[in-house]
Amino acid sequence: MRVLNIGSLNLDYVYAVDHIILPGETEATGEMHIYLGGKGINQSMALAKAGVEVYHGGMIGADGQPFLDACMEYGVNAKHIQIIEEKTGHTIIQVDRNAQNSILLYGGANQCLTEAFVDQVLADFSAGDILLLQNEVNLLPYIVDRAYEKGMQIALNPSPYNEKLDAVDMSKISIFLVNEVEGGQIAGTSDPQAILKTMLEQYPHARIVLTLGKDGAVYGDAHETHFQPIFPVKAVDTTAAGDTFTGYFLAGLSEGMSIPDTLRMSAKASSIAVTRPGAVPSIPLRSEVMEALRNS
Ligand code: RIB
Repeated sequence: MRVLNIGSLNLDYVYAVDHIILPGETEATGEMHIYLGGKGINQSMALAKAGVEVYHGGMIGADGQPFLDACMEYGVNAKHIQIIEEKTGHTIIQVDRNAQNSILLYGGANQCLTEAFVDQVLADFSAGDILLLQNEVNLLPYIVDRAYEKGMQIALNPSPYNEKLDAVDMSKISIFLVNEVEGGQIAGTSDPQAILKTMLEQYPHARIVLTLGKDGAVYGDAHETHFQPIFPVKAVDTTAAGDTFTGYFLAGLSEGMSIPDTLRMSAKASSIAVTRPGAVPSIPLRSEVMEALRNS
């Protein structure tokens, strides 16, 4: 099964800080690194590293060549990544001594998608293919409507959650991958069990994956529910942990793995990602994940 991911590509400017800066405060930082990131490309990389045939659609500026190189290196098909006359999206990320982060996002080229571009990308895909989306590019409602017309299965990670998602017809989504905050916004409740129950009532044909940080993850659909605890590790940077989980979850699903095995593989993959700095470079290969699972 092929996965098309239309999503963001960001240059992440990552600063090590003692604590996340407060309003009015000036804090000198420790190390600073520039990593490849963006929820979109992180998830494409996770899919590719997990062994899935993945195509990334998106836009970058002239400074975005390193993304094309990384796609080549890890096997993400980049034929639908277009270089335009706009800056590549970027973020300013603070990572504190407890590995927590805070992210300031500049959309740049990620916000320049056009309907013509989307039509051109989708023309290469059909029913039977999965479309994966996050909320860091423009035109989500249009992309969802066109992909649904084609009979594609649509997976949505509605992150970061904001009012732009109100225009998306969520009844067209087959797979939701949400954290507690995003699930809470969709379901209108904050209790994890209630989020799952309400979302399944709202979208009875969907599969729901609800990640709960250190409290693990739960899965629900019309027939089954499962819980997966985390694999405890010493985290250094939690950036892209959720993206790694998403990519590995879709990989397991596309291979027809059981849900419990898929959840276990995804949790292990993200537990490895948080032990490494950065977004794209932190995502483990499938061989590392399987080896780690054998040893746990
Ligand atoms: O999910 C992590 C990603 O969120 C980072 O790589 C950053 O670019 C932001 O998009």
